[in-house]
Amino acid sequence: MNYRRRICTALCSAGAFLAAVAFTALDISHSLSTPCISSMQHADSAIPHHVKATLQHASGRFLATLRDVLIRSMAQGIPHAASLCADTAQTLTRSLAQEQRVELRRISLQARNPLNRPNSREQQHLQTLERMQQVGTLTDSTVIWDIVERDGIRYAHMIRPIILNNPLCLNCHGTHKDIAPETAAVLSKRYPQDKARGYTLGQVRGAVSVLSPITP
Ligand code: HEC
Repeated sequence: MNYRRRICTALCSAGAFLAAVAFTALDISHSLSTPCISSMQHADSAIPHHVKATLQHASGRFLATLRDVLIRSMAQGIPHAASLCADTAQTLTRSLAQEQRVELRRISLQARNPLNRPNSREQQHLQTLERMQQVGTLTDSTVIWDIVERDGIRYAHMIRPIILNNPLCLNCHGTHKDIAPETAAVLSKRYPQDKARGYTLGQVRGAVSVLSPITP
């Protein structure tokens, strides 16, 4: 089995595993200025089970689809995959959100695409995830639940971390020595404000941020 195949198999089984495990709920209620553990219970109990299931399903499908596209496109070389990712990531995100009837996007404190920059609340959640990673309490199944209100509508908000735990990612998000010059050239051209390099294995690369209205 060659290296790429092994990674694919590992990713696929990781996906299946993720789908099978229960999510660790870390809940952060609304009207917060700093996410804090004492308010965790509120969002968890206030978000109906079916809304949580919708958000979990949508984010799971989204991540699995992105992984699939990435693995397939890498068969034609990393620079090609980088350029394809640049062409399709946003469209794919929008169509999946539409299909799953949720608001969905990827966010990062060090975003490659400025469209993936977090709002202030999402920024706090990402900082919480980073702190958890630093103290060793973050896992692939960690989830932050929140409730936000917009135009009189309450939304359940799920933040699901994307941990850079595969060496494959370093081809485009690693340090200078991990990224081939041809790939770096593609990335610099497409993303003049790219901040998504310099990562090492195990770091929080970002998160999936997904929202759905809370209906009775
Ligand atoms: C072939 C290059 C390539 C590889 C490999 C790659 N990425 Fe990316 N990544 C990109 C590009 C290009 C974007 C910007 C997409 C966009 O325009 O939204 C991106 C964006 C992201 C984002 C959204 C936040 C941001 O920075 O804009 C996350 C999260 C992310 N990648 C995680 C990963 C993880 C985890 C892996 C490994 C499984 C990985 N990537 C592998 C090229 C790559």
